[in-house]
This record gives sequence, structure tokens and C-alpha cells, in this order.
Amino acid sequence: MSATICAFLLTFSALRGPTVVSGALNRPTNVRLTSYNMNLVLRWDSPAGAASSLVYTTGSSVTAYRVGCVNISRLECDFTRLNISISEYGKYTGRVRAQLGAESSAWVESNQITLDKDTIIGSPNVSLFTNGATIDVSIKDPVFKISALRNVYNYATYNITYWKDGQKEKARSISNIQQNRVVLNDLDLWTKYCVQVQINTERNPNPSKPSRAVCESTTNEKGAPWVAAVVTFVIMAMAVALVVVAVVYRKCISHFLCPKDSLPQHFKEYLLAPPSSPMYLAMRNSHPPEEIYHQVSIIAHDRPVEEGSPLEAAGPPQWGSDSGKRDRLKSTEAMRKS
Ligand SMILES: *[C@@H]1O[C@H](CO)[C@@H](O)[C@H](O)[C@H]1NC(C)=O
Ligand SMILES: *[C@@H]1O[C@H](CO)[C@@H](O)[C@H](O)[C@H]1NC(C)=O
Ligand SMILES: *[C@@H]1O[C@H](CO)[C@@H](O)[C@H](O)[C@H]1NC(C)=O
Ligand SMILES: *[C@@H]1O[C@H](CO)[C@@H](O)[C@H](O)[C@H]1NC(C)=O
Repeated sequence: MSATICAFLLTFSALRGPTVVSGALNRPTNVRLTSYNMNLVLRWDSPAGAASSLVYTTGSSVTAYRVGCVNISRLECDFTRLNISISEYGKYTGRVRAQLGAESSAWVESNQITLDKDTIIGSPNVSLFTNGATIDVSIKDPVFKISALRNVYNYATYNITYWKDGQKEKARSISNIQQNRVVLNDLDLWTKYCVQVQINTERNPNPSKPSRAVCESTTNEKGAPWVAAVVTFVIMAMAVALVVVAVVYRKCISHFLCPKDSLPQHFKEYLLAPPSSPMYLAMRNSHPPEEIYHQVSIIAHDRPVEEGSPLEAAGPPQWGSDSGKRDRLKSTEAMRKS
């Protein structure tokens, strides 16, 4: 597809035949292909004595040239802004020619770059948070035009340099850090420190641009325990105060909790009014099932039992304490009688 476009451009020039004078124009100079945070940009200078209406057409190449920007008057073309696929590990060359009407210069080729090896890695973004005598360093990777830092460079590490404000010559460094949150804890109290971070990668020979130096002051070493002690003290004091108040005003409090005053009349009415819930009414109106009860006479051998008196009155039950059994007995006796 890219080859077709390239062919189209070349054919186009050829069709113009005699009117196209390739190489008649001065060529662009200082043509260089650059990359910053994985973008791919071709830059050049205009030829000496160039007309203001001069335009440029560019191409980029892995193997064959693909068309880039066409008829532009700027002195750069960002290939990563065009809708062409660019590989983070690809080797690229660019080219450009000047055009004025039907005339065009010869192509000028750029240097070749391998994106992941040659791209300039931008500075990370560093934020500091003081926590008593320590400083938390939080690092954000630069945003890449294609892919992401951690995808392109699996083993990227941070080199954190820190120093007391105004004593950069005595800076200390910790390197080979992979996590993006680091605690600096060998710091003096009440001192302002500045921090700068660089990214090292295994494939790109150059470290990233250093981050802007950011500074923050440490405070008291016992920062956190001190706060905890104050909070504990305040809570204890409040608890003691509450107890004292409770003891001193116990009468008032008990009056408040168990008031002697009667409830307002409308509350009482509300509480005493018969509930109107249909479930409650149904429960209240249903009568318990009527028990069938027959009088039973049991005549003992030694002394007679009064008719109708409960069985229990006749001394210890002779048929066990199970009342169900007794009830059954009651009814069988009654049946026998009738
Ligand atoms: C980019 O190119 C692809 C295929 O080459 C195409 O499908 C897509 O529509 C293009 N997108 C834009 C914004 O031109
Ligand atoms: C670029 O400029 C040339 C000469 O003016 C013109 O013939 C051609 O159509 C232009 N190409 C585009 C893509 O605008
Ligand atoms: C760095 O991070 C801060 C806070 O997240 C943000 O405000 C700032 O714009 C970032 N700077 C860069 C250069 O990304
Ligand atoms: C870390 O950065 C400091 C300061 O820029 C430098 O002196 C040191 O060599 C670096 N260390 C590594 C391992 O890159």
C-alpha cells in the first residue's frame, strides 16, 4: 500500500514530462531524523536563497519509502502524527525534497535511527510528600507517543538523586529502583531536601532527561507518634470529663432518662388506641380451638376421688407425667362411661 503511494508520486512526476525539472531546485539542508519520547520527526533547513512559496514533501522508510507530509511549508514532518504504523523497534530513515510549482529538488536522505535505541527519553514527573523525617518520592513515567515506557523498556530503572537544598555537590544517589514510589529515610530533621530522578534503560544508551528538581522539608522525627500521643490524651481527657459530669449531674441525668412527667395526652391516646393492623385484628378475633373436656371419675381401691376434681389432686400420677397420655386416658375413660 505504501509502495503504491510512493510509486504514484514518482509516476506523477514522470507524467509531467518535460515541465518537471527534477534537481533544478536547491535541496533542503541539514536533514535529520529525530525521536523524542518515541515520536519520529524529520527536520531540515530550507535551501539557501529559497523562495517563500517553497514546499516540501517527505517520506519515511524502513525498507521502502512511504509517503509522509506532502506540499508542506513547515520545516518538519512528524511521522507519528500521520496514519502510518510505526514500530517501536524499527530502523527508520527519512527523506525530503523541495518543490516550487512543477519543479522539485532531488531527495535528501536523513540519518538512520532505531527508535528504542535512539529516542530521547523525556524527564519523569516527580512529586514529594513529607512524612515526618522521611520523604516519599512518587515518580510518573514520561508519556510516549507510541507504546509506553514500561512496554518498550521492560527493565527501566530510576536513579534518584537527592541533596540538602543548596548543597548539590554533596548529593547522594540511589539507583536501580524499579518501583515508582520510594521512601527516603536517611534524612535530617527540619531540613529542606531536593530530589531529581533520571530513568536508565538497558537498550537506550542515554539516560532520560533529568526531572526538574523538586524540594520539600522534613519535619519532626516523632511526627506521627507525637500526634498519636496528643490524640490519645485528648480522648482520655474527654472520657474523664464525661465521667465527672455523669457523677456530678447524675440526678439530672436520671431525671432526663426516666422523666417523672407524664407523657403528653396525644402520645398516650396514640399508644392506647387499639391497633388497626388487620393481622392483629384477625389474631385477636380468632378464638382458641375449644377443648373437648369430659369429666372423669377414677375410683381408687383405698379411697374414692371426688368427681370432677383434677387428676393431679388424686396423688402422684400413676401413668407417668406425660399429660398427653393422661388426656388420652381421660377421653377413653369417658367413652367407656358413655
Ligand atoms: C488509518 O488507516 C487505516 C488503514 O490504513 C484506515 O482504516 C483508517 O480509517 C485510517 N484512519 C484515519 C483517521 O485516517
Ligand atoms: C503538491 O503540489 C503539486 C505542485 O503544486 C501539485 O501538483 C500536487 O497536486 C500537490 N499534491 C497534493 C497532495 O496536494
Ligand atoms: C506532573 O504531575 C503534576 C501532578 O500530577 C501535574 O500537575 C503536572 O502537569 C505534571 N507535569 C508534567 C510535565 O507532566
Ligand atoms: C545517577 O545519577 C547521578 C546524578 O546524575 C549520577 O552521578 C550517577 O552516576 C547516576 N547513577 C547511575 C547508576 O546511573
